[in-house]
Amino acid sequence: MNPPQVQPLYCEPKINPERLWDSLQEMSRIGATDLGGVRRLALTNEDKRGRDLFVDWCQAAGCTISIDQMGNIFARREGADSSAPAVMTGSHLDSQPTGGRFDGTYGVLAGLEVIRTLNDYRYVTHAPLEVAVWTNEEGTRFPPAMIASGVFAGVFDLTYGLSRTDRDGLTLAQELRRIGYAGPREVGGRRVRAYIEAHIEQGPILEAERRTIGIVSGAQGQRWYEISLTGQEAHAGPTPMTYRRDALVGAARIVQQVNRIGQSYLPGACATVGVLEVYPGSRNTIPGRVFLTVDLRHPEEETLAKMDLELRDCVDEIANASGLTISLEQIWHSPAIRFDPTCMRVISNAAARLGLTRMSIVSGAGHDACYLSRVAPTGMIFIPCERGISHNEAESIRAEDAAAGGQVLLMALLELAERG
Ligand code: HGY
Ligand code: MN
Ligand code: MN
Repeated sequence: MNPPQVQPLYCEPKINPERLWDSLQEMSRIGATDLGGVRRLALTNEDKRGRDLFVDWCQAAGCTISIDQMGNIFARREGADSSAPAVMTGSHLDSQPTGGRFDGTYGVLAGLEVIRTLNDYRYVTHAPLEVAVWTNEEGTRFPPAMIASGVFAGVFDLTYGLSRTDRDGLTLAQELRRIGYAGPREVGGRRVRAYIEAHIEQGPILEAERRTIGIVSGAQGQRWYEISLTGQEAHAGPTPMTYRRDALVGAARIVQQVNRIGQSYLPGACATVGVLEVYPGSRNTIPGRVFLTVDLRHPEEETLAKMDLELRDCVDEIANASGLTISLEQIWHSPAIRFDPTCMRVISNAAARLGLTRMSIVSGAGHDACYLSRVAPTGMIFIPCERGISHNEAESIRAEDAAAGGQVLLMALLELAERG
């Protein structure tokens, strides 16, 4: 007589927190800085090493790897129905110059942990799962930010994306080829059932509110500008103050005005001058040229448009009053977006089932999910980062929060991958 068929007890897969934490630590050794952060600028050798490690780990987990023409990496775990559109997760491995160990990396490795866990449980989802690594999310080396997810979503065309150039004149295409990540696959143009990205909050709200999970409702809009001021180099000694056309004095006035604009649209507004280059940079020569960048943000598009107009007006006034030639170019506008209500509900339900404290939150930072939201139902899961510090080598998270976010991601992806 055949033994009774023993159905495997259904037990909800649980991630392995130690494995996730160990992977985060190992990845953060690539590009590690003396102050405990990482420097893995997009498409540098450090970025390549991080990509290679991710690919090795995913292949060891049985994933197939595909790379598209923007260098986006997709690690795929087949489902029962390989023809079904994939449920996707992921984030980025490139960092800021003085970046933290978890910005982007957390979402990539939380996605890998989901794959590893499903392998542990021999769990086969209905739809395939994919973990993505998006090229150049930060935009610090190749502005603008999120360029590769932007090409995937059809916001930018491939030629524009590949032509992005760093301050040394190297193009994104050249650097992709150099590190061996100029993939063959077409960028985008395929259905994605849903995209869920796990990320650290990068601000102070979750920690201040003592919540473990942020259910991200959307992201604020942002506009990036490049401003060049031209005056006249001259000798710092014999040149009377009334004869001068000092580009740095004009730039200093712009910096003040950018900050004033940010202060005058609170709550919500952010305004930053992050790069300021002075030429020729000699202490006894009056600066003839200055290059600076401006980053304006606000959750409401109409207000962001007002901030834009104010910036343009004050640059015109400074040019007229100073005799400087000032060029202002808006190089990027990523409008404010709202994430998919179903994805938000799936994330919220998972956090509730785990008994995790949670709250809805708007992202101050941009993410690849912002562009994915144009081509797929998209959601984001935030976990707290200590003292709200990010884009800083001191960036830190608690292992228990990393685990909680990973478990919510697993449960959310499973629910989305099982929907017929
Ligand atoms: O700038 C941002 O919001 C993101 O870190 N790229
Ligand atoms: Mn990020
Ligand atoms: Mn970042």
